[in-house]
Amino acid sequence: MSSYGADIGIDFGSDNVRVYMPGKGVVIDEASVVVFHRETGAMIEVGDRGRELLLADPGSCVPVRPLVFGSIRRHDAALLLMKRMIWRVLGGRGFTKPRVVLTVPSCPSDVEIRAWMTMATEAGARSVMLLEAPMAAAMGADMNVFDARGQMMVDVGAEVTDIGVIAVGEMIVSERVRTGGRAMDAAIQKHIRADKGLVLGDMAAEDVKRRVGVARNGFEPSSAMVHGRDLETGLPRQEAISTEDVFEAISGKIDEIIEGIRCVLQKVPVEIGSDISSHRIVLAGGTSRLRGLSDAISEGVGLPVRVARDPEFCNIRGIGKFIADIDPRMTTAIKSV
Ligand SMILES: Nc1ncnc2c1ncn2[C@@H]1O[C@H](COP(=O)(O)OP(=O)(O)OP(=O)(O)O)[C@@H](O)[C@H]1O
Ligand SMILES: [Mg+2]
Repeated sequence: MSSYGADIGIDFGSDNVRVYMPGKGVVIDEASVVVFHRETGAMIEVGDRGRELLLADPGSCVPVRPLVFGSIRRHDAALLLMKRMIWRVLGGRGFTKPRVVLTVPSCPSDVEIRAWMTMATEAGARSVMLLEAPMAAAMGADMNVFDARGQMMVDVGAEVTDIGVIAVGEMIVSERVRTGGRAMDAAIQKHIRADKGLVLGDMAAEDVKRRVGVARNGFEPSSAMVHGRDLETGLPRQEAISTEDVFEAISGKIDEIIEGIRCVLQKVPVEIGSDISSHRIVLAGGTSRLRGLSDAISEGVGLPVRVARDPEFCNIRGIGKFIADIDPRMTTAIKSV
C-alpha cells in the first residue's frame, strides 16, 4: 500500500458501482441502484440484489438511481449505497474507517466536489481522494499518463461521456458530455414507439442495443426479437428490430459524442493536438462496446481510435493502480476542497 494508504477504491457510476481492494482486485461490480419500500419509504436493498427484488415485486418497490449525469442527485440514496458497499467489503474487519479513492466526472464544480466528499465521509471514510474519470480510465487502460506527449481518453458510460487530454500526469483539457448508453436506450424507445407503435421497457431497449446496436452503417444486417406493448391495443406484442432501426434511433447520440471530442480537440494547444494524432484516441466505459463506435469516432474526428481492454473496468483498474503507487507528479486530476 502507498504512503497515502487508501484502503478501498470506488467507481460510483450512473449505472454500475465497482469497488476495488488492494490485494484482492475488483470485489464488487453491481447495479448502481437503491430500492425503497413504496409504502413505508424504508430502504429494502441496494445493488444487484435490489434489482432482483424490484423485478420480482415491482408493486412494492421504488428504485432510485442516486446519480444523474454522473453527479449525486439523491444524497440519501448515494449514502445508503456507499455505506452498504463499504460495510460489505470491510464489515468483517471491525469497521476500521477506510481511506477511500473515488472517481468523479470530468471538471467537477466545487459544489460537486463537496457533495462527493461529504457523502463519502458520512458513509464512513476517514479520508477521501477524488480522481477525474478520464485520468482513472487512462491509467486502467495502461496509458502512460506521465508521458510528455498528449493523449486522449474518452470514457463513454451510461449517462456521461468524459473526455480528457492527459500529459505529464495532468489533465490538460477535459469535458463532460451529458450523453451515453442510457440516452441511446431512450432514443431507441422513442424511435420504436413512433415507427412501429411498440412501447419498449428500459431493459428491452438496452438489450436490443447490446444485441444489434451499431454506431455506423456497413455492418451485416441482423435483427433481434423484442417484447413490448402495442401502443394502440395496450396488449403485449413482439417484433423484430433491425440494426438499421437501432442505428436510425441512436445516430444523433453518436454525433453528440463526436461533437464533444471535436470541441476538446479544438481547445488543445497545437503541439498537443499533433501528439494526439500520432497516438490513438482510447475509448473506455461500457458504451465503448457498441459495435462500430471506434470507427464512427475515427471517421468523425479524422484520427485513429481504439477501444481499451475490458473497457467498463478501466476506471476501477486505474484507481487500483493509483492506490498502489500514487505519484506526486499527478496533481490536477486529484480533487479536494
Ligand atoms: N455490448 C454493449 N453494447 C453497447 N452498450 C453497452 C454494451 N455493454 C454495456 N453497454 C452500456 O454501457 C453502459 C454502462 O457503462 P459503464 O458501466 O461504463 O457506466 P457507468 O460508469 O455506470 O456510468 P457513468 O460513467 O455514465 O456514470 C450502459 O448504458 C450499457 O447499456
Ligand atoms: Mg463511469
